[in-house]
Amino acid sequence: MMREAVSDSNPTSSPPPQALLERLKDYGQEDVFALWDELSSEERDILVKDIESLDLSRIDRIIRCSFNSQGVPAAAIEPVPESIVSTVEERTMEDRERWWKMGMKAVSEGKLAVLLLSGGQGTRLGSSDPKGCLNIGLPSGKSLFQLQAERILCVQRLASQSINEGSKTVLPIHWYIMTSPFTDEVTRKYFESHKYFGLEADQVTFFQQGTIPCVSREGRFIMETPYRVAKSPDGNGGVYSALKFSRLLEDMATRGIKYIDCYGVDNALVRVADPTFLGYFIDKGVSAAAKVVRKAYPQEKVGVFVRRGKGGPLSVVEYSELDPSLSSAINQQTGRLRFCWSNVCLHMFTLDFLNQVANGLEKDSIYHLAEKKIPSAHGHTSGYKLEQFIFDAFPYAPSTALFEVLREEEFAPVKNANGSNFDTPDSARLLLLRLHARWVVAAGGFLTHSVPLYATGVEVSPLCSYAGENLESICRGRTFHAPCEISF
Ligand code: UD1
Repeated sequence: MMREAVSDSNPTSSPPPQALLERLKDYGQEDVFALWDELSSEERDILVKDIESLDLSRIDRIIRCSFNSQGVPAAAIEPVPESIVSTVEERTMEDRERWWKMGMKAVSEGKLAVLLLSGGQGTRLGSSDPKGCLNIGLPSGKSLFQLQAERILCVQRLASQSINEGSKTVLPIHWYIMTSPFTDEVTRKYFESHKYFGLEADQVTFFQQGTIPCVSREGRFIMETPYRVAKSPDGNGGVYSALKFSRLLEDMATRGIKYIDCYGVDNALVRVADPTFLGYFIDKGVSAAAKVVRKAYPQEKVGVFVRRGKGGPLSVVEYSELDPSLSSAINQQTGRLRFCWSNVCLHMFTLDFLNQVANGLEKDSIYHLAEKKIPSAHGHTSGYKLEQFIFDAFPYAPSTALFEVLREEEFAPVKNANGSNFDTPDSARLLLLRLHARWVVAAGGFLTHSVPLYATGVEVSPLCSYAGENLESICRGRTFHAPCEISF
């Protein structure tokens, strides 16, 4: 097979470094040197550095624990009791106002940080750019990153308006953005070139999650090229060790941050830094909470909240790991899905709990195994990516709570390329346009449209309104021709 060499320098006959080879043998990974004789000296250097950068004993522990846990029956899962979910139905106007005020107070005191999980490779979308750069075709042309940045700006502005002490300024909401080696450089450049979308550059901190070798069914490292081990990000649960190793938990403490709102990048309606959810979280006094929506249909690709065993801890079973008979099981009393509380990848944690879990999860070396086609020196080969999930922390939480939100208000996932049946940029755009059209009409505005209204709507800039509030002065009595963006 022809292959591209890094340099033409002639390979010497020297063998692989003995000590490194011995260490690899200890872990059964010596095959990484299988093509040593064919490598140029530069390629050999790259390979040696690549292997030296790996914490072999930790990786070996993770591989063994994760493989050994396969087939071990986990505690049976039980549905989450309705009583632990704050449902939209039972929530009163007073609750919402009280939580909004509590949340706003905490924001204005600088106690909230937001943490974006943006290290995923977006393979389902078929783009190599970070997902946050995606323009879903809104009238404004804004990317997901921009929508999120402007929502943060909006909450900041509302928080400063909410405090009466006129002279006191509100601390900016700090935004931690987790990237991976696959998304880091492009993400940073994107923010720089867009002047951080109006945020202060120093209120944004980027940090990278780790990677972990991809392995064969036998647990052997897969080689991406003859001189480089194939690696993938260690899952969005890699956030805990990344926070620990980059010392950002200390950074948060220094800034006086107490609550961290962690979320996935690929939801066009995500309410970043939501004061109501924060107020609810503070009111409940829990360590970890999540927003949930009712599952739309049994095969929907969402994780579901469950209990492990009778009265066991709250945890999430990912869609890829839920037995199909359970995903479609019906609760005979309600006629609804038994496992109906879907994870939208928006979690709130206390800083104390993050500190606790950053150590706990690392000790628990069981990673999820995702079977994938891995690009390798021999073409695409079947193997496993090893991942931790952010919600793996839930069973460690001393206290937890779930907060139902309406999917048409807060969940517009962007997972697949246009042309797919579900969760595409097109479907997310429509969800946003329709929601904002309802806001505008509720605020006394009128819409005209040359395509059917179900296929269009209007976009309200997050700089004007976070969740539909304060739109009367802009909309009352005015007519907007859809689709368009409503801005100041
Ligand atoms: C995720 C949730 C799923 C939920 C669904 C809702 C996890 C593990 N799964 O599924 O339960 O129902 O969203 O839309 O949270 N990411 C990283 N690093 C990684 C991998 C992913 O930062 O190594 C980030 C992605 O950039 C994204 C988020 O985590 O922001 C979700 O990851 P993705 O792999 O897209 O999860 P889903 O399969 O959609």
